[in-house]
Amino acid sequence: MDEHSRIAAVEELPDDTTFLFTIREGFDEEEAILVADDGDVRAWRNYCQHWTDVRLDKGDGASMRDGELVCGKHGALFEADTGVCTYGPCEDAVLDEVDITVEDGDIYLTDDDYEFVEQGSSITHDLSSNRSLGFE
Ligand code: FES
Repeated sequence: MDEHSRIAAVEELPDDTTFLFTIREGFDEEEAILVADDGDVRAWRNYCQHWTDVRLDKGDGASMRDGELVCGKHGALFEADTGVCTYGPCEDAVLDEVDITVEDGDIYLTDDDYEFVEQGSSITHDLSSNRSLGFE
């Protein structure tokens, strides 16, 4: 497995929240999150399916409840293992998956659409874009 595509060790993943990392698609850098679920690991793009400018993990881990990711904006719930929204304004929508492989305790990015950049986020966020609090 290519060392440049290694994201993290499985044992680095937190139990009850997400692990943020940065990927590149062409010239654009994007965020993705790893989430451990019953020994399995999944990776999703780091945005809600309701408002795509809303990040699930804002840099200190996404909220989780009973194996589901919680969007802090309007409370949508997404199953950690399938990415399916089970409750909220985008019910039945599915998070964008990022392909990963676990090998010898390490997690590698294996998605042909992206390159691994770094752990955490290298993106500067305009906090004013998350100002609205109303439902739509
Ligand atoms: S932006 Fe996530 S539930 Fe509305």
